[in-house]
Amino acid sequence: MIYSRIIGTGGYLPENVVTNHDLEKIVDTSDEWIRERTGIEKRHIAVDGETTCDLAEQAARRAIEAAGKSPEHIDLIVLATTTPDQVFPSTACLLQSRLGIHGCAAFDVQAVCTGFVYAMGVADNFIKAGSAKCALVIGAETFSRLLNWEDRTTCVLFGDGAGAVVLEASEEPGILSTHLHADGDYASLLQVADGVSNGYDKVRDNAAFVEMRGNEVFKMAVNTLGRIVDETLEKNNLQKTDIDWLIPHQANIRIIKATARKLRMSMDNVVVTVHEHGNTSAASVPLAFDVAVREGKIKRGETLLMEAFGGGFTWGSVLVKY
Ligand code: UT7
Repeated sequence: MIYSRIIGTGGYLPENVVTNHDLEKIVDTSDEWIRERTGIEKRHIAVDGETTCDLAEQAARRAIEAAGKSPEHIDLIVLATTTPDQVFPSTACLLQSRLGIHGCAAFDVQAVCTGFVYAMGVADNFIKAGSAKCALVIGAETFSRLLNWEDRTTCVLFGDGAGAVVLEASEEPGILSTHLHADGDYASLLQVADGVSNGYDKVRDNAAFVEMRGNEVFKMAVNTLGRIVDETLEKNNLQKTDIDWLIPHQANIRIIKATARKLRMSMDNVVVTVHEHGNTSAASVPLAFDVAVREGKIKRGETLLMEAFGGGFTWGSVLVKY
């Protein structure tokens, strides 16, 4: 049996920080409202000219170094993003060139906030099928580029960042299972309506920006994440008590706490970084994971459950023996 073992992690946040107090100056909001309703205290926003690939490169280099590898060992790059540098080539191809890697498969995956979980599912299947031995998996976003800075219901929630892992084929347990789902009927609850082929005028309403019916997304997220946890445990014949660490998508502390309650898990075993960077979409799970690994919280041999929910709707989980 071949597993994908996580052998290195890396994360990167842009230097430019925007606090809740900074946002009070541009929209009708308050530090108190944002903290209470979301748990967010600040977010990192890429400056002009700083791209998704720039953030991805920093996170990828850190993950490769932590893995004790060099770029030439990488034989697959899967990059999750909703905010690519260009329409094409993919950000994965741009990153491949930056890292000086040639010839291996490199492509983007787009599942918004569930993107990293999807990318892990894809890379794990490549490794299990024998098509790759050492995969670089990245979640990277400059989500701030999609925000309407006059819309207080969305602009306070998101931030930019990147997280990465290196997976290696191993006979020792690593990723135990991945579970990916989507339901496109919910597209309009969380979307950027503008695109390449649908002919929208960018200035029509909010077409170029994130539009979200937050309250409805919130309820769906809480219910769906509870179900994905149950599905993951059942598939692996595990009990809730077998999970050492929950590494949730970092969108809202209230969603994270509700999921932990469903797992009957103490918040001491839940990785929380949402206060530091807000919702970084596909980057959020690998950023949180990297912080917990580097702080020495997560230890080898522990059982980790990563989960995410996002636009599409998409949702999924990754169960890992670390
Ligand atoms: O990562 C992808 C998945 N996305 C998510 O998981 C996000 C899910 N949704 C959420 O996290 C929450 O729904 C929000 C944080 C977006 C909103 O929190 P809420 O508790 O659901 O608030 P609400 O939308 O019901 O709004 C409550 C009030 C409204 O005012 P009224 O109608 O009660 O007078 C809003 O207009 O809060 C108002 N409001 C704000 N007030 C101050 C909305 N945004 C703000 C703001 N500052 N930034």
